[in-house]
Amino acid sequence: MLERAAISRRSFADDVQYGLTQPQKELQPWYFYDGLGSALFAAICELPEYYLTRAETEILQRNASAIVGAFGTVDRVIELGSGDGRKTRLLLEPIAKPFTYVPIDVDASVLEASARDLLSSFPAMHVDAICADYREIATLIAPAPHTVVLFLGSSIGNLDPASAAAMFRQVRSILTPGNSIFLGADLQKSKEIIEPAYNDSLGVTASFNLNLLARINRELGGRFDLASFEHRAFFNERESRIEMHLVSRRKQSVAIDGLQMNVEFEEGETIHTENSYKYRESDLQMLARESGFEIDQIWTDSRNWFADALLVAR
Ligand code: AVI
Repeated sequence: MLERAAISRRSFADDVQYGLTQPQKELQPWYFYDGLGSALFAAICELPEYYLTRAETEILQRNASAIVGAFGTVDRVIELGSGDGRKTRLLLEPIAKPFTYVPIDVDASVLEASARDLLSSFPAMHVDAICADYREIATLIAPAPHTVVLFLGSSIGNLDPASAAAMFRQVRSILTPGNSIFLGADLQKSKEIIEPAYNDSLGVTASFNLNLLARINRELGGRFDLASFEHRAFFNERESRIEMHLVSRRKQSVAIDGLQMNVEFEEGETIHTENSYKYRESDLQMLARESGFEIDQIWTDSRNWFADALLVAR
């Protein structure tokens, strides 16, 4: 049931080595999601400040039948970054006939657990789980008619606009005209609402961010002292994105034995770990146009904080 994709462009080790030797140090956000990172992300989704999951769940609960009706005939549902699949079940429920579900996620443990969980609720469904980076979708999946792609949870926000358009063009290449992608995106709003979602009072997001350094310690023989770094998240108005960083609390040199390198930090120097772009409806329209789709319909939650859009392949 679980297929591990052989393709991999760069390894964790390569990306850490590259990212920590750039003038603005950086680590790529998809490395958040090892077993512990996925569990921390699941906890983030429960936080009172992290409105995104609740807003999207509201949209799906209120509109699932209409949304699935708008998909048309469905033989195959592909989900990019499927995670724990909790929201997915709301959309699988109204699909009347047997279909194949293809969840794609980088974390094998979460992929396997969620696929088993969904199978126990939908025994007529066939599951082909793929453990891979979904940005490789065109190399993982062959085109087939009656396909819908789910990309929920505002994961689009973790890609810069050019990468988002490139990925959508890849998705378009495995679809036939009339197939669709169902996309969740967090909407632009005041930073008084957005910033607390990434600075929760329990410190779960801080742990999620710091787990990147813990992961380097675990997997690459890093010697990061986690207490010497702190979490910072702020809204960059010009770019319309949350930026997450890890800030060095002091001047320090950190060895990473497995990479045979030392990383030097000035006091206050940061590692940029994530962007989370916030969208306007016009951004969604532009993304659709640039990648060969047309927006069929947009659903929003009662506060207009989050949008789910159905983009149909032209
Ligand atoms: C997965 N992604 C949509 C989350 C977001 O909001 O950008 C990841 C996250 N980072 C911090 N909190 C949640």
